[in-house]
Amino acid sequence: MKRRAIYPGSFDPPTYGHIDIIRRSLQMVDEVVVAVVYNPQKDNFLFTPQERIDMFKEELTEVGDRVIYDHFYGLLVDYVEQKEATIIIRGLRAVSDFDYEFQMALMNRRMKPGIETIFLMTGAAHFYTAARLVKEISSFGGNVDGLVPAHVVKRLKEKFAKNT
Ligand code: PNS
Repeated sequence: MKRRAIYPGSFDPPTYGHIDIIRRSLQMVDEVVVAVVYNPQKDNFLFTPQERIDMFKEELTEVGDRVIYDHFYGLLVDYVEQKEATIIIRGLRAVSDFDYEFQMALMNRRMKPGIETIFLMTGAAHFYTAARLVKEISSFGGNVDGLVPAHVVKRLKEKFAKNT
């Protein structure tokens, strides 16, 4: 049976840190489902779920069908079960991530004890890369080259040009 993991997140936009985690996950499991979260009622995201998926696809050209892209709404553990997976992958950066991640992992385990969260450390180069900061810097015209792929930089510029 194929070992399948779910890699959930906002990915608004995908960064090199997220891309690094997906590549690392593929060394452990057969399939990774990149699950982009969305909220049909109150969408606070800059990019639509499809745009976020397209940005991953544009970058992860070598992974073939071992990476599956999807979006979900609702409880993550329900989605994981629906996808017949038992592993959630989360990236861990600096210590500041730990509290939030620990809380989520334990809550998820409380709801579904059969699902394990596995934390992967991002590469050192991506330790401080956060989509939230990338967006903020980009919204003020700052330089985010090297934090996200060039095609993502372009999309960010287009979004903020439209939004101003
Ligand atoms: O990239 P993010 O924003 O840190 O990802 C957070 C995400 C999507 C993993 C988390 O918000 C989530 O799991 N949302 C789905 C709703 C849910 O299950 N909430 C309870 C978590 S204990």
